[in-house]
Amino acid sequence: MIEFYHVSKQYVKNQYALNDINLTIEKGEFIFLTGASGAGKSTLLKLAFKEELPSKGQILIDSFNINLIPEKKLFKLRRNIGIVFQDFKLLTRRTIYENIAIPLVIRGERKSVIDKRVHSALSLVGLTHRRNYIPEHVSGGEQQRVAIARAIVGNPKIIIADEPTGNLDTELSIEILKIFERINANGITIIIATHDKNLIKMFPKRVIRLEKGRLISDWSKEEIL
Ligand SMILES: Nc1ncnc2c1ncn2[C@@H]1O[C@H](COP(=O)(O)OP(=O)(O)O)[C@@H](O)[C@H]1O
Ligand SMILES: [Mg+2]
Repeated sequence: MIEFYHVSKQYVKNQYALNDINLTIEKGEFIFLTGASGAGKSTLLKLAFKEELPSKGQILIDSFNINLIPEKKLFKLRRNIGIVFQDFKLLTRRTIYENIAIPLVIRGERKSVIDKRVHSALSLVGLTHRRNYIPEHVSGGEQQRVAIARAIVGNPKIIIADEPTGNLDTELSIEILKIFERINANGITIIIATHDKNLIKMFPKRVIRLEKGRLISDWSKEEIL
């Protein structure tokens, strides 16, 4: 469970990137976070994995106040959260297998464990046949699937994706969202920031809408379409 209590963020004095956000996300939910460019979507996501700190308010994950986590223990929080970006952020000189293995290599997992988990992640995103390719030799949609596999390989409880379909056409975007649905079916919480209303229309999920840093609607799908 993720809880925001009266959370505000000001990067610049007197300008609210987020303004008094109150929000509860239950374990296993699938959520779209939407709103125009500059509304505060990326900021909200960054606060959840403590890449940015709130100016005011509290953020709890599984009842634990993440404000209180010292820098040295941040890796423990981040182990529970898989992150996917719009621009994939893959290592260009590494194979797809190696890219997906990175989080486990960093943790010092045994080779046999890595192999098992990477293969299961490859299979979940349908890329087993591409495992020995380098990223530039596969399509954009496939590169995003690699990034998703890398995000789930460490068995996180939460996946946070910031505009994961921003560089993809509609057909590929739908494919990516179906993969997120499959991951969600395993009980993993999914939070996707997107400004793509058409995509949101196709997937009946909880929708949280931000406008100029304020949370202006929650659940009310009709209102935003
Ligand atoms: N690092 C930063 N420094 C200063 N202002 C920022 C920074 N990051 C975001 N902002 C500002 O905060 C507001 C919200 O931005 P952001 O969270 O990126 O919105 P979104 O992801 O919805 O486009 C915008 O006005 C943006 O210019
Ligand atoms: Mg953004």
